[in-house]
Order: sequence, then structure tokens, then C-alpha cells
Amino acid sequence: MKVVIVGTGYVGLVTGACLAEVGTEVVCVDVDAEKIARLQNGILPIYEPGLQEIVVRNQQGGRLSFTTRLATALPGAEVVFIAVGTPPGEDGSADLQYVLQVASEVGALMDHYLVIVTKSTVPVGTAVHVNRAVKESLYTRGMIVDYDVASNPEFLKEGAAVNDFLKPDRIVVGVNTLRARQKLEQLYRPFLLNGHPILFMDIASAEMTKYAANAMLATRISYMNDIANLCGLVGADINQVRKGIGSDPRIGKHFLYPGIGYGGSCFPKDVKALIQTGREYGYRLRILDAVEAVNEDQKQLLFQKILRHFDGNVSNKKFAVWGLSFKPNTDDMREAPSLVLIRSLLDAGAMVSAYDPVAMKEAVIYLGSNITFADDMYQAAEDAVAVLLVTEWNMFRIPDWPRLKGLMRSPLLFDGRNIYDDVELVKMGFTYYGIGNTAATPVNALLR
Ligand code: UDX
Repeated sequence: MKVVIVGTGYVGLVTGACLAEVGTEVVCVDVDAEKIARLQNGILPIYEPGLQEIVVRNQQGGRLSFTTRLATALPGAEVVFIAVGTPPGEDGSADLQYVLQVASEVGALMDHYLVIVTKSTVPVGTAVHVNRAVKESLYTRGMIVDYDVASNPEFLKEGAAVNDFLKPDRIVVGVNTLRARQKLEQLYRPFLLNGHPILFMDIASAEMTKYAANAMLATRISYMNDIANLCGLVGADINQVRKGIGSDPRIGKHFLYPGIGYGGSCFPKDVKALIQTGREYGYRLRILDAVEAVNEDQKQLLFQKILRHFDGNVSNKKFAVWGLSFKPNTDDMREAPSLVLIRSLLDAGAMVSAYDPVAMKEAVIYLGSNITFADDMYQAAEDAVAVLLVTEWNMFRIPDWPRLKGLMRSPLLFDGRNIYDDVELVKMGFTYYGIGNTAATPVNALLR
């Protein structure tokens, strides 16, 4: 089967590469000529573990190609995926202009049956607009060509996207004809071999599933951040509480980690867009309003703790930031909590030296020359009054503590992800702050 994927961003590229990996003929299309030229030479616009190898292998195998021209890609294709961006508009709603533009172009060029699938995260009801855009283009040409629209949201985690695609928990497909269902079942058959289910449903439900999943996960995080903050006040240990509640299979142990707020390209945008959809229909999603509000506060938390420690004066003090990307294994800086923290520190007159194993090139775009980018984690900490652990990359997990202590101006650590053994650190002479209360805080230490 041949498929066309429009948009070679994160989702489009992973989808194209992974479909090619199981033998599908894939043509990826993008308007960005420079990006396409680089992809043709095996240079990827993003960092994603395992993706480079798959792209190159399938390009060499003749199953994956890149072009700027939709017209040359469409002949012989059976499915077209729309995987272009849906940036948030001013009110938080997803901006659909690129999606609808692609739908119009497909309508303007198609001459045989196609399943036109939205892969981008789009608000409930978008398929109706996509359908209209295709129909209008066909009408303008005076053409009658059969086609179906479908919705196939992705559930890829950055840093694990290839694995998520190749071994999906589930594949959600919204269709309203048997023909489209059969086509997409055929396309996804190679991924279903190990019992991974494909869930067919109506189109609106598929569109909603994506938002409901992300909003639920964001809710868990804000909930845990709230509980962690309360633990800090009452003297309970959030790590113990997390284990305690996560052992209940109804709750489950994943996605219960408090931190400095969720970021990335999905949660902030999708929570906002779902709230906005509610508004459009006259329904206020009160839980999600709170999820957002907690997250905004949480992004400020580490800075507040720092200010409190230094009695409000951080001016001309050097802080080492470990990790910049919104989470490990990605260079994505979109909505990264590190940006909020760093900007607050700079505004307060502090100096920042940062290290991230992958995201520094991307971070320059956001932070320019306002901070120093160090060659490694220890260089970042030289003469620093505190180390701020922001992103839990594995390389930060077991530092050479004595070396670190020797380099720093004062042995002070703010752990934005609760990854360190606070009791050990306190024994080694560090002053430690985590998220919420942890074992080393006085009330718990008394019981040891
Ligand atoms: C998410 C969804 O997981 C994925 O299914 C969807 O398709 C896109 O959005 P992603 O944005 O790549 O994926 O990141 P994810 O690993 O889900 O983390 C999102 C944010 O939540 C990160 O900022 C992370 O640090 C934070 N997080 C996650 C926590 O603070 N605590 C947790 O327990 C888990």
C-alpha cells in the first residue's frame, strides 16, 4: 500500500518512518524545501531516539521518500495523512488553517479514491471542516471523486515515539464508512500482531479520545503536584505517598511524579484547547481550569523556594541548571518549565549556567546569550551557589557528589524532579530542597 504524509514535523516523520519500516510505501510531503532537502540527505529536524536509523534504512530501501510536491506524491496513494501543525491561537483554541489548507490541496489534486486521515491533534468536529474543504476543492474543479475522511490521533511520547508507534497500546481510528475502516485496518495490520488492539469508533469520539487522554494525564500531574505541596506543609513524604497510592491498580503507578510542572508540545496546548472547546459549547471544564492553574503555579515553585532560601536576594549569584528540555530524551524546549525558572532568575539579577546533553542548541533560540551554556554538568556547577535539577536525564542521576561539592560555592541542591536520595545528600553536607516534603526534612528525620 502507498500512503502520503503531509507534514514532516514530529508526528508526520515518526508516522512515515514507522509505516515504511513495516513495508508500506511512504511519501512525506512538506512545504519547507530546506527541511525536505535535509531529510533527503538523512538529516532529521528533531532528535528522537532510533528515528534516524529507521529513516535512513527505509530511504535506502526505497520505501520512504521526501518531496515538497503533493501533486507528485498523490498518484497511486490510498491513504493521505494530514500531520501538519495546529498551533494554539490567542484564545487557546487550536489553529486549523494548515490542516484545512492541506485538505483543500488534496481536493484540488486527487483523481482517485482516498482515505484522508487527520493525524494532527484537532478539536472535536474538525473532520466536518476537513470534509467541507475537500468537497469545495473538488466542486471548484467540477470533479466527482469518492473519498472518506477519518481521524487517527497519535499517542506518541517524545523520546519514546518510535517504540510507541511500533508497539502501540492501542490504535484509535474514527471512521464513518466500512471502506475507510478496511483500508486503515489493512494499513495497521502489521502493528496488531502482538495483540495490540485497534479501536474503531465514530470520528468525533476518536478526536475526543486524544484530548481526553492527554487532559487526564495532565490532571494526574497537577493533582500530584498539589498533593506534594500539601505534603510539604503537613510533614508527609510525597515519595511514600506516591508509592502508597500507586500500588492500587485502579490508580496505577505511572504518571504520579510530582515535579516543576508539565510542559511540551501536547499537554499545555491540549488542555487549553479542550477548555476552549468546552467554552464554545457553553460548558466550563472546571477540573481542567484547575489543572492549568496548578501547573502555572508549579512552574514558579522552584524559583519561590530559591528566593525563600536566599531571603529574596539572588542578585549576582550564579545558579547551575541541569537539564533544559521539557523532559529527558528530547531536545524539545516548547513550554519547558526550565524557561520559566531561568527567566525568573535572570529577572531577579541572578546568573545562570546551564547544561543539557541534547537541548542546548534548541535552548539558544529561546534564551539567546542571556545565560552561559556549559560543556558539561560539572563545569555548569563551578562557583555556583546552587544546582537546580530541572530535567531528569539519566546522566544527572548519580553525580560525583564530592567533586560537585568541591566545585560549588555552597553545597545546595534544588531537585525539581525528586530524583535524589535526600537523606544521603544531607549526610554528605548538602542542603536539599525537593518538590513537596521528603524524608530528609526535619519532621521525618526525627523518626529515623
Ligand atoms: C504526551 C503524551 O504522553 C502522549 O501520549 C501524547 O501523544 C503527547 O503528549 P509528551 O508530551 O511527549 O507526550 O510527554 P510525556 O512523557 O507525556 O510528559 C509530559 C509532561 O509531563 C512532561 O513535562 C513531564 O515532565 C511531565 N510529567 C510526566 C510529570 O511531571 N510527572 C509525571 O509523572 C509524568
